[in-house]
Amino acid sequence: MSEFFTEFLALLTPGRSVLDLGAGSGRQALAMAERGCRVWAVDRQAGNVAHDRIVWQAARIEEWLQKPAEVAFDAVLMGNVIQFFPREWVAATLVPELVKRTAERAVVGVRTFFQPPEPKFDRELTYWSASELVALFPNWECVYQNQESKASPDMKGMNRLFHTSSIIIRKL
Ligand SMILES: C[S@@+](CC[C@H](N)C(=O)[O-])C[C@H]1O[C@@H](n2cnc3c(N)ncnc32)[C@H](O)[C@@H]1O
Repeated sequence: MSEFFTEFLALLTPGRSVLDLGAGSGRQALAMAERGCRVWAVDRQAGNVAHDRIVWQAARIEEWLQKPAEVAFDAVLMGNVIQFFPREWVAATLVPELVKRTAERAVVGVRTFFQPPEPKFDRELTYWSASELVALFPNWECVYQNQESKASPDMKGMNRLFHTSSIIIRKL
């Protein structure tokens, strides 16, 4: 588990409602469900973990955002997903829509990555520095931020130099 996710998990208490956007395989959703949270895991492909506190919603994030949410989320995790979207859409649509769906004192964790051009990803990536991520949430309290570059395998096992930025912020 990354330092970022360990810190994020530590802020969650049993019974909280958590949105995991771009949940991937569901590894992190499972850790949050095992901690006692109710997790809404959204990804265009449903992941491969099952738990009675995880609700999978197989949808594109852009489409999921069109519908009103069932609950006000106490926490939102966006792990390695927003770099796939245009910067303007993240700032003007995604973040304001998510903020509307959050409860008082909600926490949001965002981790993004970027890498040098070779080998190329299938999709264009947007680079976000940690301070740019924090600036997406004006008047929220930043409780964690980190920016680093390190080599590690991607989801297909290809070794890459990843530049990552991570933040955790809390609604005041
Ligand atoms: C790099 S993986 C990250 C998975 C997980 N959050 C993690 O940190 O390990 C990115 C995930 O975002 C999902 N994704 C990318 N664009 C999406 C979109 N427009 N709508 C829904 N899911 C999307 C992909 O299917 C993939 O599972």
